[in-house]
Formats: sequence, structure tokens, C-alpha cells
Amino acid sequence: MSFDPSPAPLLRTEVPGPRSRELWARDAAHHASNSSPAAQWLQLVIEDGCGAVVRDVDGNLFVDFSSGAVVANLGHAPPAVAEALAAEAGRLMHFFDFATPARAAFFEALARTLPPALQTFQMYSTGAEAVEAALRLAKSFTGNYEVISFHQAWHGRTLGAMSLMGGFPLKRGYGPFAPGALHAPNPNCYRCPLDLTRDRCAAACTSLVDRVYAQSSEQRLAAVVVEPVQGVGGVIPFPPEFLAHLRRLCDRTGALLIFDEILTGVGRTGPMWAFEDSGVVPDVLLAGKGLAGGYPISLIASRREVLDAGPFGRPGAGASTFASGNMACAAGTAILGLLEDGRVLANGRRVGESMLAALRDVAARHHIVGDVRGVGMLLALELVSDRTAKTAVEPALVRRLIEALARRGVLVTGAGPVLRITPPLVISEEMALAGVALLDDALGEIETG
Ligand SMILES: Cc1ncc(COP(=O)(O)O)c(C=O)c1O
Repeated sequence: MSFDPSPAPLLRTEVPGPRSRELWARDAAHHASNSSPAAQWLQLVIEDGCGAVVRDVDGNLFVDFSSGAVVANLGHAPPAVAEALAAEAGRLMHFFDFATPARAAFFEALARTLPPALQTFQMYSTGAEAVEAALRLAKSFTGNYEVISFHQAWHGRTLGAMSLMGGFPLKRGYGPFAPGALHAPNPNCYRCPLDLTRDRCAAACTSLVDRVYAQSSEQRLAAVVVEPVQGVGGVIPFPPEFLAHLRRLCDRTGALLIFDEILTGVGRTGPMWAFEDSGVVPDVLLAGKGLAGGYPISLIASRREVLDAGPFGRPGAGASTFASGNMACAAGTAILGLLEDGRVLANGRRVGESMLAALRDVAARHHIVGDVRGVGMLLALELVSDRTAKTAVEPALVRRLIEALARRGVLVTGAGPVLRITPPLVISEEMALAGVALLDDALGEIETG
């Protein structure tokens, strides 16, 4: 432990402080100007982290309500992961995609978390890379080429992955996208695609995907790709029937059901994998982000017959520079070891529930909060300028809120009108609720300002 995180939040200087400002300017002289909005607005230089706390170069301690990019599920710099990485770095950092003892151990540990249908793996480094590979896999296994994905879905910034995503403004200027991508409306109880209310809808939205299939498909469906809970697109849990409906569509058409659990996996929504709570097992699972505690990792899990079929299964077809990720495997085994006894997952569920209850109380006091939702430690407030019309707030207001939070010692990294709250699963209830109280205060400041 490089510092004592328990006094957090603790501010020693203004935010950003003098050392942050100086180092930020040196870094910005060379870094492209396209970092995330929160990184640019706050101009903080983060030096180290411990548990659910990060410290900047001025010695300010911030409660992390983001887990970075929803990565530090087990907290920052967990000693077991740091030790595993140091030991492996001294042995072998890389030897193409040859088997290594670290990889064999990681695969065995990962397999223990997954059902029989998801026991064969192919590794990559980033989430988008795994999504791209899943598209190749689906085409290879089915011989078909269409993929259904959903409005408000987020799958990454490579061209194939972007083709699956919802209508995010950041897609503009990069088209045309991959042919064969069909988009269906997503269930969204706060902004219902059918303008129904929760008590009277009978989850009618779940079958909108059938209309897309009937009207837009040439009956050459290779896959349906879905996040079991949509993350970046707005933290949107689905009605329980939805994933089962997609399972039936895939069974009927022979398409692969692909769950993108890059954000929801590794305990984020409560269980190890979000699909466990749905009772629906996909044909393909995609994992990334928190699986190696911050060391780049992503992978596909499926049945051997799926991974081995067609061009995807040919010798050499899976090879890429970092397709083995020996260091990532060492870190991943350490992360899985920390999760094995279920205590961290139980903490995430328990603290997540009390945060959700506290956030509901906060929402009742602030007219700019239109909705509070989430599951496990994947929580959100949707900010609106008019509760009846549900008009999204302007980016300037989101900026003021993120800055007001940072000045109180709480960091969030997402910067849209849906304020994503995703602390490390290891956060204590006391620290989490203190952070929610500071959010309450920050909302008060921007509403009156
Ligand atoms: C569900 C989901 N899929 C894929 C990705 C892309 O992952 P990466 O940024 O590692 O490429 C993300 C990133 O946020 C994600 O949330």
C-alpha cells in the first residue's frame, strides 16, 4: 500500500492543484487533444491508487466513483496483482501465442467461473478487438453475414464494433460502416421505444427485434450481439424476458447469441458474469476491462466447435502479436483468485444496493435528476433540464457537476447526461455513502448556480 486511503476524500490544495497544473501542461504539450471530456475538464494528474481511492500529484485523495474506465473492479493496485505482474515480468513478458504456464493457469481459473458451454477461449488485448473477433467468428461458424445489435449499445471504436453501436454522435464522420449491421430498438424503461409505461407495457419492447429481423434481414443472420445491461449507452437494465427472447431468436435462426460482458463482467452487476442473473447462457461471451485489474486483456469464450469451425479455426487464424498476453494472464489469475471466495462480489452487491437506495433519496431532492437506475455496482443518475419532457441537460451542466464533485473529492469519468457511478467493488459502505452525500451537495450547488 503506497498510502493510507482511509481519510479520503481529503483535499490539500485547490483542484487541480499546482503540481497537477504544471504536469498537465507538460503532458498536454505532446498528447493529442482528444482525451475524454472529464480528463480535459479536471486537468488532474493521478499518481497512485489504493482500493477505492486515487491520489493526485498534489496529495489530494479522491473517492473513485468510476473505477477508471470501469476497470478497477478489485480496487487500484491490488497487491496480489502487482506481485503477480512483477514475478511474471521477471520470468517472461512475451513469447508470441505459445502456451505458457501463466496462460494455462489463467484458463483453468477462468473456466471455473463459466458453464460447460463457455470453456474454450481466444485472447486479445482490447474490448473492441474481441468484438471484431466475435464478428469474424460468427461469420465463420454460421456462413452468414448479418448481425443484429441495439440502439444505445456500445461495443468499441474499431470499424466493425462501431458499426454495431447505437447512434452516438462520435460515430459521425467515420462512415460508411460495415454492411450487414441491423439495429433494433433497445428496451429502455425510462425512454420507452413504444411510449408505454412500466406498469402497462407487458415488456412489449422485447419483441421489437423480431420486426427488425422480419423487415430488414435477408435471413442470413450470423449473430445477435447485446450487452446484458447496457453500460456506456446509459446504464440500462433490460426486462428479464428480453435476453430469453433473444436466445429463442438465435435458436430459431441458427445465429450465435453473443453477450458483450466487457463492462458488465467481473462482478460489476453483482454475480461474476451478468448473464448468471438472467438464466440465459450465450453461445459466445466477450470479456475485457476489469479481468486483469488494469492490465490490457480481452477474450472470447465459447464452445470448442464454434471456435474451431470455418476460417476462424484454421491454424494461424487466431494469432496476433498480443493474442497470448502472458502478463495479462498472470494478472488475470490474481484477479480471479481475489474473487474466488465470493466476498468481494457480495460486498459489491450489498454496497451497490445501499448506494442505489441513497441515490433514490438524493434524486427526490433534485429536479435535475430524471431517473435513478442500475444493478450491482453499475449505477446511474439521468440528468434532465425538464422532468416532464425528459430533456437531456446540456454538456456545460454535466461539466459543472463533474467539477463540483471533484472539488469535493469524488471522481467520475463519464461525461454524458447519464452520470455513471461505478466504484470499485471493494469500496466500503461508509465511503460509498459519503460519496453519495457529496454528490447530493454538488447537485445542490449546480441547481442553484
Ligand atoms: C460493452 C463494451 N464493449 C466493448 C467495449 C470496448 O472496449 P475497449 O475500449 O477496451 O476497446 C467497451 C468499452 O467501454 C464496452 O463498454
